[in-house]
Amino acid sequence: MARTFPDLLRENAGLVEAALNEMMPASDATHLPGAMRYAVLNGGKRLRGFLALESARLFGIPDIQSLRVAAAIECVHAYSLVHDDLPCMDDDALRRGKPTVHVKWDEATAVLVGDALQTLAFGFLADAATAPQAEVRLALIARLANAAGANGMVLGQVQDIAAETALAPLDLSQITELQANKTGALIEWSATSGAVLAQSDTVPLENYARALGLAFQIQDDILDVEGDSEAAGKRLNKDADAGKATFVSLLGLEAAKIRAKSLVEQASDMLSPYGEGAAALRQVARYVVSRDR
Ligand code: IPE
Ligand code: IPE
Ligand code: MG
Ligand code: MG
Ligand code: MG
Repeated sequence: MARTFPDLLRENAGLVEAALNEMMPASDATHLPGAMRYAVLNGGKRLRGFLALESARLFGIPDIQSLRVAAAIECVHAYSLVHDDLPCMDDDALRRGKPTVHVKWDEATAVLVGDALQTLAFGFLADAATAPQAEVRLALIARLANAAGANGMVLGQVQDIAAETALAPLDLSQITELQANKTGALIEWSATSGAVLAQSDTVPLENYARALGLAFQIQDDILDVEGDSEAAGKRLNKDADAGKATFVSLLGLEAAKIRAKSLVEQASDMLSPYGEGAAALRQVARYVVSRDR
């Protein structure tokens, strides 16, 4: 039987899971490695890992390399979630269907798990097994530093928290910028990593990822309003109460759905330089706005 997209999603997630399982530090007598494993190996969708694998496959880069890249970005993403759930941020007790790290351990552990996951990711990229060329490893590292830090994800988180108490609601361009930083930057890093590994032009994948990242976050915001908490594995109906600035808060549910769909079309169109080879990246864009978790 022909392999369907859900099969591919499952297969890629399994590959990323196995790579992480092998690469994460083993549990020992101290609680930190066990808490790091708990934060990462807990059934995420592995969307960013999927993008790393499939963008590398576009250029014929072997999985053995891109799985290290996938593991790195999943560690940074998991760190961002552990910190996002802290009482000083979104104050959430459930993540991926399980107690959050600060609930299972304590806040200091959650802060330190996040810190340790972030540096672990850079270590994965720096290893020659990721790419034989030092300049390629350096490019991945420099781009991740930019995407994850004060110009990217961290900036987006700052903007997200600031918006909760802003005097006037954010407008469309401000919300777009916030979401592009908060969620888009790591998604863009993942989707362009294949081109970086192949020392090829990153622009088409950047354009694809910008539209995809926004569509992804709109769906996250839609799920917050009308999703099923059990399927999503996290608390929902929290953004409005917290005063979060989202596309749904600005546009309403129906217009947000229309915008997400049109962003998926845009994302797909950006893949035209790759022809049929980019089928998996087109399918994942459609999945991003139809997912229930
Ligand atoms: C959730 O990300 C947090 C956001 C950036 C919106 P995902 O929906 O990709 O979470 P996991 O990795 O599947 O748990
Ligand atoms: C999280 O966004 C973004 C990052 C962790 C960078 P949200 O706060 O919307 O994610 P959920 O809804 O808690 O998963
Ligand atoms: Mg948040
Ligand atoms: Mg949150
Ligand atoms: Mg959310």
